[in-house]
Amino acid sequence: MKKKILVTYDMFREGFTELESKYDVTFPDGRDFTYDEVYEMLPGYDALCSMFNFPVDKKLIDRANGLQLIANYAVGYNNIDVAYALEKGLTVANTPDPVTNPTANLALGLIIDTARCITECDHKLRSQGKEMKIGVLENLGVSVSGQTLGIIGMGRIGKALCKRARTCSMEVIYYNRHQLDMAEETKLGVTYVSKEELLQQADFISLNAPYTPETFHMIGEEEFNKMKPSAILINTARGPLVDEQALVKALQTGRIHGAGLDVFEFGDYPLPELLEMDNVVLTPHIGTQTIDTRIIMARIVSNNVIGFFEGDRPVSRVLRP
Ligand code: GLV
Repeated sequence: MKKKILVTYDMFREGFTELESKYDVTFPDGRDFTYDEVYEMLPGYDALCSMFNFPVDKKLIDRANGLQLIANYAVGYNNIDVAYALEKGLTVANTPDPVTNPTANLALGLIIDTARCITECDHKLRSQGKEMKIGVLENLGVSVSGQTLGIIGMGRIGKALCKRARTCSMEVIYYNRHQLDMAEETKLGVTYVSKEELLQQADFISLNAPYTPETFHMIGEEEFNKMKPSAILINTARGPLVDEQALVKALQTGRIHGAGLDVFEFGDYPLPELLEMDNVVLTPHIGTQTIDTRIIMARIVSNNVIGFFEGDRPVSRVLRP
């Protein structure tokens, strides 16, 4: 009998051609399945393909009679209770490779946008038209080249951002759970510092760490108080890494200069105060939102499922929570 695969999200089907040719695959039609729908349907499926914002919790895992694999569409897997899934003997897989470059590109885009007021100027031109003040002392931004970027989380995306920042002639310092070896630091042209030193020295701070209980609110009031008043915070990782109320306060009081955010603490939308601020650039979790990336990520999910059942290709396994 063919394996049964349940995909929770609506997606371009190109990436799933091979999966569909081998297995009995259920997709939602023109929308994502809700949690309750998946809960009802799940028993009897061999693999569940979840999206990064779909909670795969204990309740769902307990319901999953016969399930062997959870293949997540994302590099991050904080939506899954991985510890419980592994305890129950399930395999969890993710899609690290195709996520790296687009997310690093977006982070660099947010750095340049916030520094050079691109979105702010665009808004002003559209809303003020010929009333907009234009002159050599108007619409002044801050430089990117020659400034120091502090990267918190030096995994694949952090390193990819580092290479881009170096190309823009930025100095790069980083803080990570583990220091890179010296050869890699030299190749990347980066210096390891403590979190405190990074907060004090960086002109731009980019968060590229996974979301875990340890990284929850890794940036809050205490951290903002250590930053330069000219600092710009960039978050393309996960919203809850930042205490968003504390961020609003830091921006309102001029404790820091600006922010570029692709993710928010309380779901899909930022706190309303952020919408009012010209020095904040906001995007709705579009780190990997390009057509080709979406298709490649689907292909990797498909490869993870096929590799798991057939053993004919590598599976990107998540080994621990
Ligand atoms: C996207 O947010 C991802 O984790 O891949």
